[in-house]
Amino acid sequence: MSAPAVWINGEAAGSLSPLDRGLHFGDGLFETIACLRGRPRFLELHLERLSLGCARLSLPAPGRERLGAAIERAAAEADRSIVKLLVTRGPALQRGYAWGGEQGTWLVIRYPWPHEDPALALTGARVRTAATRLGENPALAGLKHCNRLEQILARNEDRSHEVDEALMLSHSGHLVSGTMTNVFLVAGPPEAPRLRTPQIALCGVAGIMRRVVLREAAREGIPACECALAPHDLDEAGEVFLTNARIGIWPVRSIDDRALAVGPVTRRLQERLGPLLGITGADG
Ligand SMILES: Cc1ncc(COP(=O)(O)O)c(C=O)c1O
Repeated sequence: MSAPAVWINGEAAGSLSPLDRGLHFGDGLFETIACLRGRPRFLELHLERLSLGCARLSLPAPGRERLGAAIERAAAEADRSIVKLLVTRGPALQRGYAWGGEQGTWLVIRYPWPHEDPALALTGARVRTAATRLGENPALAGLKHCNRLEQILARNEDRSHEVDEALMLSHSGHLVSGTMTNVFLVAGPPEAPRLRTPQIALCGVAGIMRRVVLREAAREGIPACECALAPHDLDEAGEVFLTNARIGIWPVRSIDDRALAVGPVTRRLQERLGPLLGITGADG
């Protein structure tokens, strides 16, 4: 992978303080933005989630225009890239958890678009259920905050190349999401399918692609509910798919030992999302 390009507080030659609270406590938020043909995708949705998160955590951050312009500039320098925006509370003014008057730090990092097996979007992902569970905390639910140790543990439970994603349950046993994806189940008869996705009330990230899929399903006339789901709901689902801002939709072709067919509702939504994602045949 070629080296990522980094801007700190808007400066290519900027530096990061060793006292930054993002480093010490994960006191920050981030966005991972897919950029195609030099333009960030769903930029407004990313900036909206970030700004709501900053308000919930009382995090200082530059205005949307400044952040948006910096992301657009970074994206414009490459045809395809992943631009990560990180906002932290900044260098601590005192030791300990209490905050007071920190000025914030913001980073824009541009990564090359990852090499990925195009089959994942076509034939589907192999998924296992992670043993690591997610803690429940409504104060943090929905946020894409910088504390990702649960996902790190789950992701590294199985380092073989036979698994593409791991599904995570909450401590109380509810299905929540993948380690880097939200999850959708297709229920109902083929003539009247409906989507079910775990509610993000106690844990989980309120994904941008989850939001887009819910919006597009409504436009497509497919009812959807955000509800409490248990692992056995997966056994009853005819189709399962995963979403995130980069991958769009991945059908799921197996969960642990159970094989699943890639079904028509997943395909219909993939097709509907194609133009929004800027995916053409050439992109795979
Ligand atoms: C834990 C987790 N859930 C869900 C998602 C999907 O979010 P988005 O659609 O904003 O990429 C991500 C993305 O990285 C994630 O890390």
